[in-house]
Formats: sequence, structure tokens, C-alpha cells
Amino acid sequence: MSFSLNNILNKKLENIFTKLELDTKFAYFKASDRPDISDFQCNGALALAKIEKKNPRQIGETIAKELEVDNDFAKVSVDGPGFVNVSLSNDFLNNFTAKLCNDDRAGAPTTTTPKNIIVDYGGPNVAKALHVGHLRSAVIGESVKRIIKFYGDKVLGDVHLGDWGTPMGMIIAKLEEDYNGLNIPLEELDVEKLSSTYKAANIKGKEDEGFKEKARLATAKLQNKEPAYYDLWKHFRKVSVDDIKKIYDSLDVEFDLWWGEADAHDASKEIVTISKDKNVSELSDGALIIKLAKDNDKKPMPPVILEKSDGGFTYHTTDIATIKMRVDGYNVDEVVYLTDKRQALHFEQVFIATEKLGIAPNVKFKHIGFGTVNGTDGKPFKTRDGGVMNLENLISMSKDEVRKSLPTANEVEGYSEEDIEDMVSKIAIAAIKFQDMRNNISSDYIFDTDNFANFEGKTGPYMQYAIARINSIMKKTELTAGDMHISENEERKLALKLADFHNAIIKAYEDKEPSIISDYAYGLAQTFSSFYNACSIMKAEEKIAKSRISLALLTKKQLQLCLDLLGISYLDEMLKK
Ligand code: ARG
Repeated sequence: MSFSLNNILNKKLENIFTKLELDTKFAYFKASDRPDISDFQCNGALALAKIEKKNPRQIGETIAKELEVDNDFAKVSVDGPGFVNVSLSNDFLNNFTAKLCNDDRAGAPTTTTPKNIIVDYGGPNVAKALHVGHLRSAVIGESVKRIIKFYGDKVLGDVHLGDWGTPMGMIIAKLEEDYNGLNIPLEELDVEKLSSTYKAANIKGKEDEGFKEKARLATAKLQNKEPAYYDLWKHFRKVSVDDIKKIYDSLDVEFDLWWGEADAHDASKEIVTISKDKNVSELSDGALIIKLAKDNDKKPMPPVILEKSDGGFTYHTTDIATIKMRVDGYNVDEVVYLTDKRQALHFEQVFIATEKLGIAPNVKFKHIGFGTVNGTDGKPFKTRDGGVMNLENLISMSKDEVRKSLPTANEVEGYSEEDIEDMVSKIAIAAIKFQDMRNNISSDYIFDTDNFANFEGKTGPYMQYAIARINSIMKKTELTAGDMHISENEERKLALKLADFHNAIIKAYEDKEPSIISDYAYGLAQTFSSFYNACSIMKAEEKIAKSRISLALLTKKQLQLCLDLLGISYLDEMLKK
């Protein structure tokens, strides 16, 4: 059964157009521009009139006449220059909505041609605190992965850990200096020590050429897997990964694969061989490169360096090699990458080089670049005292905001301090995540520290609240869901909105755009609110009340599915001050 209301309605139009010998290219409805007079409109008569040099109203009238005999439409009219407007009958809406209520997926479509997809997101770096950009990649990527999975593809999330480049050599070189060699008591190397070492190494590397050279050598030795270097690295990589996992856990972000750049080392060697065999690489100043520029390029396309003159591999090489591993190991059909949009050129280069190497024929690649998170001053987001806003700061700031809206444990009965803190955490994470995914992801956004955790407005807490509110409505009545009896305007609007879930899922899947889900969910919560204000459940006669309960429960199911797709948890009950 198709839950696409558009398809059902368009089919009707197509039949009519065929009968009238009109071009079926124009046989489709869109949501009405005037919801006050109709549910859907078809503008086909206007386009046809232009081509056939006829009066659009006349064509509109002939189409309308055919639609009128269909009982699924309660109202058909031709308006303005020739718009054909239709409103669905209550019977039709009752039947359609009843089917949505009975569907496990609340009307969401599934693919008939499942694919193997890997989503590459997160991209944290060993020994470096996660910053707001990493948050975006993790949060958006998790949602994109869930949307793909829900649509029916086989999908794996891969973290693509930054664990093999020069920064690793810098840390080792700095430790070597601090401890006068590599005989380092490993228990001293905790996350704090690692991140302060990395910071100090970074500063030193900028002003001290000698140190830079040491770091370069350490990187080369590490990449050659010299035991003293490799073992030390293995230790601090683990310390770092354990910490990163904890943070991802608190964000409900989960990966299937924990491949790092280091895991692509052997495949990188293969890539070098393939490039030579296929004659696509060449030497340039001692480095092995692949030239990518073409005559008709509209912008400069720099070559990729596969192997530096010192034998080291680059960020490009590991990405290309990882593609080979994903093809060989997982037979991927598609790879989706989530990073800051400033990495767009990097991925373009990787994709062109991959094509030249011929290592992933028929694989589709998509890089999704997201915008920067700014503060209200338009500059990159900082803490209140001007420090770097890392993820842990952000979470604790969000919790502080949420606590302001919640009662304390001794202000409410039946809740322990732990219960309240658990609620604070779930709401705080929802506030951060929803704020991140409520806008088109390619645009920069301003982190609105004043409103992001409000219980009103387009926020995560509001979405969670909408679900908890339906639960509390249900607690007030003994009645259960029943047959649909739609008649009031606000009931019709809610039913039409619920029917649109299908479109939202398809569009979010096609565009890999979580904001389509957040938009839909927010719109649905608002439509439900207007419905509930206008249409009482408690005061209505029983069969109407039961029909309204069905609408409320379907709304709840769709809201929950939307939050699941956004990777946001919800609560049965929500307290408010
Ligand atoms: N570690 C990188 C960074 O922090 C992001 C990795 C993105 N993924 C990839 N396959 N290159 O910028």
C-alpha cells in the first residue's frame, strides 16, 4: 500500500488527463497556496493553455467537471486564471488516516532497491579535545545515518579517526623532550596530559624549526611502526579513543566502525602501487603526485600528493586508501562524508583521484559540508569568558540552562535528585542537537545561548515536551483509540499534515538533510497544538473523542520517529517550573 497521498491524487488526475487527451506531464497536484479554500491545487490548465493557445479557465473547467464525479473530493472549483482547486472528502481523509494509524511506520516509505552505504562522520583527532565543528559532524552524521537506515538501506557509520598524521609525531617529539627519551611512565599519559602536550607541541612547532624536524622524524618512525614509537602511540590512541567514546555516548552517537587513518596505512601503499601501474601518478620535487586539473576546469584544481618526499602519506592518501578498503571489505555502493564545508576541495580532489585510479567504479560519493557555528557577535563560538567552546563546555552550559526551567527534587513529589539530573541531561542534549539541526546544514548558524534550551519555540525541549504532553493527555482519559471521524477544520489540517510525513522522509533521504525532519516535526507539533486547542477530547462525545485520540497517538508516533531520526531521546513525562 502506498502512503503517498500525492501519488494517489496524481493518479486520479493522470486518468482524467488521458481521457481528455491532455498532456499528462501537467497532471499533478501540489499543496494549496490557499489552504483556506482548498487542500490541493493543479496548475496544469495554465501550462496547457499556453501550449495549445486556449483559454486556461476553459481547460480548467473540463478537468474540474471530471473531478467532481469523484466522491473522494468534497469540493472542486476553478479559481483565478484557471487553478483547479480540490478539497478531500472527510470519508477519504478518514480512510487514509486510519491506514496511517495502522501502519508500523506511520506512513513512512521504504526503498525497493536497498544499497550498501557508509557514512563517514565524527572525524575526531587523537589527543585533541572535540570542538564545536566535531559536534556538528557527529550530530548531523548520526542523523543522516539513521535516516538512511530507516529508509531501508544497509548502512554503517565509520568514525575515520585522525590518528596517523604529523600531529602524532608532534606529540611523540614533545613527550620525548619532556621525559628525556621514550621511557615514559604510561600511567601519566591521561587525556589531560595528552591534550596539553599536543597544545604545547603545536606552539613549539610554529616557532622552532629544530622541533619541527624532530616531529617529522618521529612521524616517519611511527609510520614505519618502529616499536618504541608504535607502542607509545598505541597506548595514547587507546586513552584518547576511550575518552572520545564517552563523549559520543553522552550524545547518543554510535559508530559501527572505528577505523582510523592508521588502518589505511597498508592500503595506502597499495594505492601508490596502483597509481604507478596505471600510470596516473608522477614525481614532482621528490613527491609522488596525481595531477587532477582539466582544460575546462572553472577553478584551480591542485594535484594530490600521494607520497611525500620523505615517504609519508597525506590526508588525501588515507582517504583514497580508505575508499579502497570500503569497496574491498564492504562492497559499498555509496559513501557519504560529513565535514565542515571548508573541506569541500579536499573531497573533490579525493573523488577525482579515486576515479583516475579506477578503484571504486560505480560507487557514488557525496560530501556534505556544514557551516560554522558562530556566537552572537558573528565570530566563531566561544565560552562566556572567551575560551574555546569545546564539547564538554557546551554540554555543561546547556545543562545549566535547562536546570533553570526545571523544578528541583524537593519541589516535586516522586522525583529523586538523580531523576531530575537524568531529565536535565536528556533535555540539554536535545537542546544542543535540535539547535544544530533546525537550520539547513550548509548554512552557518549563530548559537543562540538565550533561547536554545527554551521549552517554547523551535527547540529540542519543545519537541520533547510535545510528546510528553500527548502522554499526559492520554492519562486524563479512560478512552482508547477508535475509528476516524474527522469533521472539524483543525482535525482536517492535522490529518493532512500527518499524511505529509511520507514526503518529508523521502526528501530528507534524498537530500541527506536532517533539517527536513526537524522542520516537519516542528510543524506537526504546532499543528497538533492548534488542533488540541480547538478540538477537545474530554468534552467530545465518545466516538469523536476516540477518533481524536487516534489522531493524537499517530502524532505522537510520528514525533517519536522524527526524534529517533534526529538522534534525540524523549521522555514519558516532562516537568516544568
Ligand atoms: N579528522 C578530520 C578533521 O578533524 C576530519 C575527518 C573527516 N573524514 C574524512 N574521511 N576525511 O578535520
